[in-house]
Amino acid sequence: MSKIIRLPGLIDPHVHLREPGATQKEDFETGTKAAIAGGYTVVLDMPNNPIPTISPQALQEKIDLAKGRIYADVGFHFGASSKSIKYFTEVFSRVFGLKVYMNQTTGDLLMEDDQTLEAVFSAWPKDLPAGRQGKPILVHAEGETLQRAISLAKKFGSKLHVCHVSLEKEVELIKEAKANGLNLSCEVSCHHLFLTDEDAKRLGSFGIMNPPLSSREDQKALWEGIEDGTIDMIGSDHAPHTKEEKQGGKPPYGVPGLETTLPLLLTAVSDGKLTIERLIELTSTNPRKVFGIPEQEDTFVEVDMEESYVIENQNLQTKCSWTPFAGMQVTGKVKKVILRGKMVYDGKNIFGPYGRILP
Ligand code: NCD
Ligand code: ZN
Repeated sequence: MSKIIRLPGLIDPHVHLREPGATQKEDFETGTKAAIAGGYTVVLDMPNNPIPTISPQALQEKIDLAKGRIYADVGFHFGASSKSIKYFTEVFSRVFGLKVYMNQTTGDLLMEDDQTLEAVFSAWPKDLPAGRQGKPILVHAEGETLQRAISLAKKFGSKLHVCHVSLEKEVELIKEAKANGLNLSCEVSCHHLFLTDEDAKRLGSFGIMNPPLSSREDQKALWEGIEDGTIDMIGSDHAPHTKEEKQGGKPPYGVPGLETTLPLLLTAVSDGKLTIERLIELTSTNPRKVFGIPEQEDTFVEVDMEESYVIENQNLQTKCSWTPFAGMQVTGKVKKVILRGKMVYDGKNIFGPYGRILP
C-alpha cells in the first residue's frame, strides 16, 4: 500500500551541527544531509560550540565553513554572554535569534546572575524597520527557571521563544503567559513526545539529554498543548555525540533527531494522535512565521503515509550513527525532497550540496 502526499519543506528551529570545534560528532555536511533525509530544508544552528558563537568573528567563521558544503539551508542563532552584548546590533541582521542558556548544559554559555540577564534582555534589539519581524530571544529555561525568563521578557518587552518544553508545569506557565498577551512562542523536542523516563532506563546514557525525559503525565500535557495550540512548533534539538562519548565515564547530554522526527510525527498521524494540517503548522508554518524564515521557491517533501519501516542506526546520515529510536517501527517515510526545483533526496541518495546560508 502506498499513499504519497506532499508537505512543505520542514523547518527545524533548534539543531547543533557542531562545527567548528566538535566535528567528531557532526559537521555541516553530515548534519545537513541528515536534515534533508529527514525532510528538513531549513535548520537553525545553535551557538554552544566549544568556541561559542558570541562574536561577529565566530559567526563569520561558521558562515565561511558552511559555504558550499550544506545540503539544506542553514541559519544561525547568536549566543548570549556578558561578552557578546556589545555585538547585538552588529550581528542582528545575520542571525535568527539570540540563545540564552539559563540552565547548565553542553557548552560554556550558562548565564545565571540577574544583572547580566537583565542587560541581555534589555540590549537585544526590539524596534525594527516597518514590515520586518522581531527576532526572538530563545531560552533554555527548565522548570522554575522558566518563570524568570517570562518575567524578564515581560519587563523588557522581548519576543520570547521557549526551547524544548518538557514539563506539564511549563505548559501551564506558557498558556498563562500567552493568555496575558506576552509575545511568546515555544517548541517541544520530538524525543519528549515519543519517549518518557521509562525509556530512560533501557536507553542508559543514550537516553540522557537536557531537559531529561519526563514522566507520562508530563508527556500527556505536551500532547494536549499540541492539540490546544499552546505548543507552536516541534524541534529536534538534534544534539549528536559519538557512541564513544556516550559510553564514556562522563557521558554528554543530547541525542540526534533530524532523521527521526518526521517519521515519528507521521506515525502519530497514522495513529490518529495528530492531523496532517497540525503537523504542517508545527514543523513549517509556525517556525517560518516566528523566526521570519524566507520562502523557499518550488521546495517540498514527498512522504508515503502508509510505508512502515524499522528505524535503524545503519541507515542514518548523521555522523554519530545512532538514534534513541533504533528498533522502533514507524509508519510514514520520506520518499523525495525537492529544494528550489532540484531533487536533493530520492529516498535513498542525497544530491547537492545546494543549500544556502540564510537569511
Ligand atoms: C545540547 C548539546 O549537546 O549541545 N544537549 C542537550 O542535551 N540538549 C545542548 C542543549 O541544547 O541544551
Ligand atoms: Zn539544544
